[in-house]
This record gives sequence, structure tokens and C-alpha cells, in this order.
Amino acid sequence: MDGVALAGIAAAVGTPFYAYSAGALRAGYGALAGAVAPQGVEVCFAVKANGNIHVLTEFARLGCGMDIVSGGEMTRALAAGVPAERIIFSGVGKTGAELRAALRAGLRQINVESPAELEAVAEAARDLGVRAPVALRVNPDVDALTHAKITTARKDSKFGIPIADIPALYTAAAARPELELAGLALHIGSQILDLEPFRRAWSAMADLIRALRAAGQRVERLDLGGGLGIGGEEQPAPCLADYARVIADTVGGMDLALTIEPGRWLCARAGVMVAGVTYTKPGDGAGFAIVDAAMNDLMRPALYDARHGVETVAAPRAPTDAGRCRLVGPICESSDDFGAYEGLGPLRAGDLLAFRDTGAYGAAMSSTYNSRDLIPEVLVDGDRFRVIRRRVGIDAALRLETPGPWQREEQD
Ligand code: LLP
Repeated sequence: MDGVALAGIAAAVGTPFYAYSAGALRAGYGALAGAVAPQGVEVCFAVKANGNIHVLTEFARLGCGMDIVSGGEMTRALAAGVPAERIIFSGVGKTGAELRAALRAGLRQINVESPAELEAVAEAARDLGVRAPVALRVNPDVDALTHAKITTARKDSKFGIPIADIPALYTAAAARPELELAGLALHIGSQILDLEPFRRAWSAMADLIRALRAAGQRVERLDLGGGLGIGGEEQPAPCLADYARVIADTVGGMDLALTIEPGRWLCARAGVMVAGVTYTKPGDGAGFAIVDAAMNDLMRPALYDARHGVETVAAPRAPTDAGRCRLVGPICESSDDFGAYEGLGPLRAGDLLAFRDTGAYGAAMSSTYNSRDLIPEVLVDGDRFRVIRRRVGIDAALRLETPGPWQREEQD
């Protein structure tokens, strides 16, 4: 990775681990921000994709804003040095405590997803004696044509407010003294490779904004969401110029402050997960290579049938065997399976494998299932590397299980 041998990092920190290229993070932000700059679009990184504070700091230094979905992510974004006025708070279930914290911090905008949440925001603003900057998140009823578990804007989805309900709610919200109604937001899904769903959804937003304005409403901001995919073996990623053109065609020239909230596009390709082969084992058809990473470390294959490219790291032998090989982890579930791969073999115990495009939703979604460690994260910058999250092992986990005192329920 850049100027550092992954095998050297493996020797220093042990496998498995995540490694991110700082250069690739910076280049990715530069390319995307540059492509949308002519439309005046601000880029807010979706922290959920990779919340490591050092990754956030790389983006913050470049002037990137952030899209957050919890009080925890707010703390991370602020700690990374992102100014509050560049932070947008999304999510369908923000609690009263999170809303008050957001208002106290002075975040740019709260994207509200239901009439009930609008009431909660108004109440929090009243409590604190401030006006809450809000946008209404619209559900435009558009199918993002991606995996069902990461599509978010069909009418049966839990996200956003049905587009037909927006005009009445917008008018009512604009009249409330506790609310500063800034505009609208949407996010139609993730890993989107076909630009047409974006075009359809954003065109619907343009029509909606024209209608609101014709009715005398002020609409200043439009948050276009994230979701731009990175492509894979079957379908390439859309090119940035085409993505930017869809923005220009649909909502350009409307005198709107535009924002996008990309997560995956900015960090997926900057990261790899490196795992070691523990055993090989003959199988019915394809043989198995049992690796030391598992579904708790990289959940995407088990959860979304995602497939990540895999390469051998510093393979001591040329990959001669055309045979298939299933890469599986040690967890006691059949879903702990990264898939069948051609041309890696013949693998042997001790070989290192790099799982590509795992800088997004990799470490961020990991768990300690099977009492496994949270694995280290490493940042590579040029010819240097450093650990940016230490391994969290069983001793730390057991310390959290130090029991509290026995208590009895309070009786009135
Ligand atoms: N904005 C909102 C409101 C979101 O809910 C999301 C992602 C994003 C932005 C960023 O989407 P991106 O540009 O990264 O596609 N764990 C799944 C992805 C779930 C995405 C959830 N929301 C995966 O590993 O594929």
C-alpha cells in the first residue's frame, strides 16, 4: 500500500487488520469535491462508513463537512475538528438527548424524518431557547436499484416523509417560531451504480421545490444524500463527471445551497483488510482456505452477499492453480463465508490475503461475536504507517463485564 509493504505491517501488528491509505483518502475527496464544485456542492462525509477519528481528521483538514447519525458520531466529527456549521444530522430515530446536544453544539442542520420528530425538535429548541435549523427528509418513492437491505427511498421504507405530505408539513413547519426551516433532504440508498434513480429522485425534488416556492415558501438548501457506488466485478462505477452532470441537469441553477453525503465512495477503495490463512482443507468441489478474519470483522458478505476482490500479499508462489477456493472464517456459522475465488491458489497456511475495497463499512460494522477481538486499524501515509485503533482484546471486554451492585427496583 503506497510506500509500505502490507506484509511488514502484518509482521508488526499481527493479522487480521485494516489498513487505509491516507493518500487515497485525500485523492478521493479531491476528485469528488472537484467534480461537484462547479455546481457549488458541498461534500459532507457520511461518518457511518468509517468513523475512525484519524480518517475523519484527514477529511476535516481538507475542509470536508460531515453527515452524522448519532450523538457518538457528532462527538467524533467535532473532535476531528469539523466546524459545527459543516455538520448535518440525519437518521430516523434521533432521541431528545441527541437533539438537544445537536442544538447546543450549533450543528448546521437537522434532517427531520417524521412529524413526530419535528415535534421533538421543536420541543428541544423551546427547552434551550434557540431556533432549530431543520430540513425535511423526503421519501420520493424511487427504487435505487441496489441491494434491498440498502435501498431507502421506496414508499414502503422507514425513511423520510412521503413526498405527497411535504407541502402541508413544510408550510406548517415554516410558520413555527422554534424552527428555522432551511430546505429539503433525501437519500435514496447505497452502492448505487446506475445514475437513473438519482436523476428521477432529484428531478422530483426540483419539481417539489418549484411548487413550494410558487406557494410562497422559502427553500434555500437541498441535501442530495449519499449512495454513489464504487463498482465491482460486474458493473463499473459511474464516472464522476456523469454524476455531476445529473446534479447540474436536475437541480442546477435553482439558487440552492447543495450538499452531498457520500460515505463509501470516499473511503472504500482506500482500505484493505489483511487476513492470514490458518488452514487449508479439501472440500466438496472447491477446497476451503480458513482465514483468521471472520464475519465479525467484515460483515458485508454475510449481510448483503457482498463480494470483495481478494489478492495474495507478497505471495511466495505464483498463483498457478486454476481451481476454485472458498475463503471462510473461523466463526461457527455457515454465513461466515467470503465466497469462492479463482486463481488465488495454491494457498498455504501462513499466506496473507488482502480483501479490497473494505475501507467503508468494514471496521465500522465489526463486532466481537464469538468473543473475538476488534482488530487493529492502521493508517499508511507515504512510506510510513501507524496504528490508529489498537486491537481491543478479551481483557478489555471482560473488564466491561465487571458486575455492578445488586439493586432492587424502586417502589413508589
Ligand atoms: N446519508 C444517509 C442519510 C445515509 O443513510 C447513508 C448510508 C449515507 C448518506 C452514505 O451512503 P454511501 O454513500 O456510503 O452509500 N452498510 C451498508 C451501507 C449502508 C448505508 C446506510 N446509509 C454496506 O456495507 O453496504
